[in-house]
Amino acid sequence: MYCTRKINDDYTWVGADCRRLAMFEGVYDVPQGISFNSYLLTDEKTVLFDTVDSAVRHTFRENLTHALAGRELDYVVVHHMEPDHAAELADLLRDYPQTQVLCSAMAKTMIGQFFGPELAGRITVIKEGETLSTGRHTLHFVAAPMVHWPEVMLTYDATDKLLLSADAFGCFGALNGGLVDSQINCDEFWLEMVRYYSNIVGKYGTPVQNALKKLSGLQINYICSTHGPVWHENIDRVVKLYDRMSRYETDPGLVICYGTMYGNTERAAEVVAAAASRAGLKDIVMYNVSKTHHSYIIRDVFRYRGLIVGAPTYNAGLYHEMEVLLSELAGKDIKNHCMGWFGSYAWAGKAVAKIKEWNDTRLHYEAVGTPVEIRQSLDASTHAACEALGRDMARRLLG
Ligand code: FEO
Repeated sequence: MYCTRKINDDYTWVGADCRRLAMFEGVYDVPQGISFNSYLLTDEKTVLFDTVDSAVRHTFRENLTHALAGRELDYVVVHHMEPDHAAELADLLRDYPQTQVLCSAMAKTMIGQFFGPELAGRITVIKEGETLSTGRHTLHFVAAPMVHWPEVMLTYDATDKLLLSADAFGCFGALNGGLVDSQINCDEFWLEMVRYYSNIVGKYGTPVQNALKKLSGLQINYICSTHGPVWHENIDRVVKLYDRMSRYETDPGLVICYGTMYGNTERAAEVVAAAASRAGLKDIVMYNVSKTHHSYIIRDVFRYRGLIVGAPTYNAGLYHEMEVLLSELAGKDIKNHCMGWFGSYAWAGKAVAKIKEWNDTRLHYEAVGTPVEIRQSLDASTHAACEALGRDMARRLLG
């Protein structure tokens, strides 16, 4: 049975919420679920914008059937070919044999790669700046390559001043009844927008800046992303948030994350944090890398300029969970950050050297303070060195 939601007279949400999926992309936990948004424009022509993940295909189809109310589907616009939005495309085209696909040239190639060559005759390639009149509405197509895949394009409806933005401005978290931000309490979405952006789009700051420049001259009353609420009251806030994150602008806060096997490295982290606090730093967050998924740590690295990591030596290398975090951070190409580090060992120290190697070769953050190497557990000398590390980082962040 259908559960559609209206944005206005002509736009209907025909997507689906999902609270059964444990891990989005097989990587990111979604404790509050996730929405896969698809929108239908009903004008003289009918236009569907994106499909959904196969996990919610039945709900999507019921919604689409209801919203079409017996009409043909004239077009499906494919903004983005990642399967959480395009998985249902081939089945949709099979069941709606009159429907034409509008997409970028690269999306057309990807459709062939995902679904085979049979759909090629149904596809019209859209170029940057082209328009489509559907009757009352005029749609403008805007290329947004590498936000966050190369084929991505956006649609601006100049009639309703409505932007269909693909993943941009999206967030984790299912919709809980409402759709437009003015209908709902958005508190739970803000940090989840940062987590979504930082982990999934965050590597592509320059392409995001390019897209924002293209959109800057447009009057926009609604932003319809493929995940999360439709933004209406909070457009200024979400655009500023994207602008800031894509410039890698941060607050003077500190993320301290550590691996610990028996608590010795954790105690060192506490000493570092207390020293940073005594030096006047207020925004300090601490994470045990074995207990907190790296997506939450990366979210906070996008919020705070300082990072201090600490880990034991393990198998003559770096504690595995810290290795995973540093690898994920390196993949994001995060700029304008400061980093300090410490490590522990039982009989042969490697962790400190390995963390330095990560920073020298992949992260390229500004090194702050003197790294601390701890044998077994803190003594008076390493305790003082951890205090100095926390203090030096706080001073650097506070200027
Ligand atoms: Fe929501 Fe890039 O897919």
